[in-house]
Amino acid sequence: METKIVIMSQIMNKDAIMKEAGQVIRSGGLVAFPTETVYGLGGDAWNPISAGKIYEAKGRPSDNPLIVHIADLNSLTEIVEKVNRKAEQLIQAFWPGPLTIIFQKNHLMPVEVTGGLDTIAVRMPEHELARAFIKEAGGFIAAPSANKSGRPSPTLAKYVVEDLAGKIDMILDGGMVGIGLESTIVDVTNDIPEILRPGSITKRMLEEVIGEVVYDPTILSMQEEGVPKAPGMKYKHYAPRGELTIIQGPPNLVSRRINELSDVLLKCGERVGIIATDETVQEYRATIIKSVGSRQDEDSIARRLYQILREFDNEKISYIYSESFESDRIGQAIMNRLLKAAAYQIENVERE
Ligand code: TXA
Ligand code: MG
Repeated sequence: METKIVIMSQIMNKDAIMKEAGQVIRSGGLVAFPTETVYGLGGDAWNPISAGKIYEAKGRPSDNPLIVHIADLNSLTEIVEKVNRKAEQLIQAFWPGPLTIIFQKNHLMPVEVTGGLDTIAVRMPEHELARAFIKEAGGFIAAPSANKSGRPSPTLAKYVVEDLAGKIDMILDGGMVGIGLESTIVDVTNDIPEILRPGSITKRMLEEVIGEVVYDPTILSMQEEGVPKAPGMKYKHYAPRGELTIIQGPPNLVSRRINELSDVLLKCGERVGIIATDETVQEYRATIIKSVGSRQDEDSIARRLYQILREFDNEKISYIYSESFESDRIGQAIMNRLLKAAAYQIENVERE
């Protein structure tokens, strides 16, 4: 199949392109589109065949449910059983935006989209192009991230091309995404809402609006244990081709340890990559050293993380060492993704 790639900034008549993209969806095809978090791979949420095509294009297990993207609130009541008080408050505070909410589903949405669950994940993105596209396509877009299963989510259209060209009908290139990590997922179907995937909307931000919120315990774990409630979180996700290890501890010891490990591998002729920060990038020795952003600006780190993992793949790096990131802000989401990319390989260096 030939994939039509449209660079939106070069298009005069954007309306016509959006209509065309909408038509592709209505006739059962797939379109990759930008959102404020990462690029999504969209299909018609009402069409089970489209869901099947999404799983096939991504090489994704079909028990892993998709998020239904909507562009206006009236659409929500068509697919969920009810919207409780806490969900209403979250919608009021965070939609449109990078928050996915889990609802009880009604019986209308095809099981292919929800992986056979009786709940449904819904998100209303803020990205202007995403919203226009969803509307033109009929209002209900089932979309996972637009990467091949097991690769980092795409933050630029060129990474969608890398993973999916030839397998989908169209790619809308809207430039680099704003956030760079997938949406926060919160389940409000139980008494105490639960975060199933951390993102840029943090626990504290949610708690300011709806009171107590808990994490799915598997999110906080520094080891691979337990069964996460979001089926997709159980897979070794976001995996770079090189072997990634996170080194955690006081900054000066971290850089010293990473250099030690790197020196050994360099001597053996291996290609070593380091994920550093603006503050530390000068301190390292390796084949390729990249700063993921500044510790003064965690958002910059979130935006660059997946891109760096992909760049190391393309540069055929076989060992990657990363500094560690943690905070109660988006650092939590960064560390969650990094731990998965590292398959939970983390080394602690302690004070001497
Ligand atoms: O930011 C995002 O959320 C992006 C953009 C494109 O919107 N989408 C995205 O989709 O990250 P995906 O498919 O890569 O991740 C969806 C996650 C998976 O881990 C899936 O298991 C979980 O949401 N999920 C979907 N429906 C669910 C449900 N009913 N209950 C629990 N988890 C669910
Ligand atoms: Mg994904």
